[in-house]
Amino acid sequence: MIKHPDFKRYTVTSALPYANGPKHIGHLAGAYIPADVYVRYLRLSGKDVVYVCGSDEHGTAIPNQALKEGTTSTAIIDKYHALIRDCLYQFGISFDVYHRTSDPIHHQTSQEFFLNLYNKGLLTEETSEQYFDEEAKAFLADRYIVGTCPRCGHTNAYGDQCEKCGSTLSPRELINPRSTLSGQPPVLRATKHWYLPLQDHEEWLRKWILDSHKNDWKTNVYGQCKSWIDAGLQPRAMTRDLDWGIKVPLSDAAGKVLYVWFDAPIGYISATRALFQELSEGKREFASPQRDFGNVDRDGWKKYWEDEQTKLVHFVGKDNIVFHCIIFPVMLHSSDQFIIPDNVPANEFMNLEGDKMSTSRGWSIEMHEYLTDFPDRPDVLRYSMLTNLPEAKDSEFTWKDFQAKNNNELVAIFGNFVNRALVLTQKYFENKIPIRGECNEIDLKAITSLNAFPGLISTSIENYRFREATAHMMDLARLGNKYLAETEPWKVAKTDMPRVGTILNIALQIAANLSIVSEPFLPFTSKKLKDMLNLGNVNWSHAGSENLLPKGHALGQASLLFEKIEDTVIEAQIKKLMDTKNEVALASQPVMPLKPEITFDDFSKMDIRVGKIVEAEKVDKSKKLLKLKVDTGIDVRTVMSGIAEHFSPEAVIGKQVTILVNLAPRKIMGVESQGMILMAEDKDGVLRLLQPSEAVAAGSKIS
Ligand code: MF3
Ligand code: ZN
Repeated sequence: MIKHPDFKRYTVTSALPYANGPKHIGHLAGAYIPADVYVRYLRLSGKDVVYVCGSDEHGTAIPNQALKEGTTSTAIIDKYHALIRDCLYQFGISFDVYHRTSDPIHHQTSQEFFLNLYNKGLLTEETSEQYFDEEAKAFLADRYIVGTCPRCGHTNAYGDQCEKCGSTLSPRELINPRSTLSGQPPVLRATKHWYLPLQDHEEWLRKWILDSHKNDWKTNVYGQCKSWIDAGLQPRAMTRDLDWGIKVPLSDAAGKVLYVWFDAPIGYISATRALFQELSEGKREFASPQRDFGNVDRDGWKKYWEDEQTKLVHFVGKDNIVFHCIIFPVMLHSSDQFIIPDNVPANEFMNLEGDKMSTSRGWSIEMHEYLTDFPDRPDVLRYSMLTNLPEAKDSEFTWKDFQAKNNNELVAIFGNFVNRALVLTQKYFENKIPIRGECNEIDLKAITSLNAFPGLISTSIENYRFREATAHMMDLARLGNKYLAETEPWKVAKTDMPRVGTILNIALQIAANLSIVSEPFLPFTSKKLKDMLNLGNVNWSHAGSENLLPKGHALGQASLLFEKIEDTVIEAQIKKLMDTKNEVALASQPVMPLKPEITFDDFSKMDIRVGKIVEAEKVDKSKKLLKLKVDTGIDVRTVMSGIAEHFSPEAVIGKQVTILVNLAPRKIMGVESQGMILMAEDKDGVLRLLQPSEAVAAGSKIS
């Protein structure tokens, strides 16, 4: 294994979310919560870190959404940038900066980056035939074109990617392509673009990824990279014919912008630049208050991107792997200025109640919805996601599991332990840390276990095993719970108060440790617990000690850290999920094409009334027909209606219906039918009666 340098500082990134809509909690599990645990741990350990993120505001996803919402691209990015940023902060994701790619600093940084590669001759220029929509008069980049995926047959694959099987595609590979602008099949037209010749980089990529990172990159990540490289790297266009994006800074490139996957990752650099610019102007501070790594001048960002002793780590979801492991590193390497990542600990996907999470299909829990429904509980979601991260394979979020993690672990173990220790101390020792007398075997065993925890957690975090790290953290609470169960201070209190003091002293030292090591995972809880223990400035180096709280130290006010979540709350969430899914399914049903226009006179020829079914019977030898007697207000007449497959005779008797009363009579199965009952029919042919919203007199006219 190749030796990796000793790192002096860290640059940590989370994938920039597209500001094209609200983001669901699956995103949190992929790129945000693990990164935040990592960063908080590093900061607590006194490391020099910048943690950057921001909105990805270019690409075809944005104008596509603007089209859907009937508004402008600018309005879309402003709205969703604010929404997503605020949600992420409310979940405690502790970015040093949350920037946006529409910012002028980013446009400048990206154009400089492009020109640098261009001037070095590291981009190739090529004219080729690309899909063009003749009706919309536009080239169809990436998501403006859909068709059938050549790999899995999914009929709605995008020009750049199939969301079903995850394959990266190019528009020309799609079967039966059609434009999302006009719905028409496109034609081919010649256009010039600039390409990143990935094939020229195979040799160093192989050495870098396949040799030197064989053992420290996750298998899922390594595997994807290997299959990309083995399949043969191809030139990849870095420009697009679009009007939304960063202008290609060349004189012969009118109407062309940088490819979104060229500009977006440069966003990490721009964000760092913007951070230092604002720091130098005193306009903002780092997320970590303990930070003191020298002056923050305007150029301070450079060492986080140019110095080999900076460890660059990208947290992403699995659909972003090739961009962060191959394409962006090739860009960085070609720049001859920037470092390449040390690791890309990508996660797989988190499914929801047995199905893929998807905002557009209505099968998701949006971040803002969770925060509205559980405003005081960001840590509960963090915890339930952390115990369930899709680190090695796809995992699943269920509301039942969420409830169980809260009730059986956070409440029953963590909360219960802390509460017992604090309440007993209040009761017997005036809320002050009692004296620790002589320790017996149980005490010493507990202390020895306690001493080992920070090391265990560090190792897991440093190796990007966040599930394991979270389990260790909870095991420390378990240790505390078990210790109290074994020593039973509430019983000993009847006979031996000094012994109770020893027990509570040790229990409170465990609680103090818990307040430190839980910080990366449960930052809000950790803060609350520190306040309850009246614990001052502590960091990771203090963790593991059984002497965090000196005797006589006064504790703060105790309160409950977690609250039980009732079944009804969970049932309501499951119902909401089902309802949204049904609504979306209904909204996306294909509708019948519009019939030719009619005049008002045509319409007013129809005499439509509210009637009431007074009798109904089956018709011999017909599966479909019911013979109805309908009170029309004018008369009671016979109507043959094709609803027998949907309604039994008993079910319709007494119902109000809508009836066309001046339709010429027709003989059906030998019976004269005198009118027609109106029905709503969905795409599956299911019929529903049309009724007034409140009962009205029979014969009321409909107009
Ligand atoms: N917006 C992209 C997505 O949601 C991620 C961009 S990551 C960056 O898939 F590196 F390009 F910034
Ligand atoms: Zn596919």
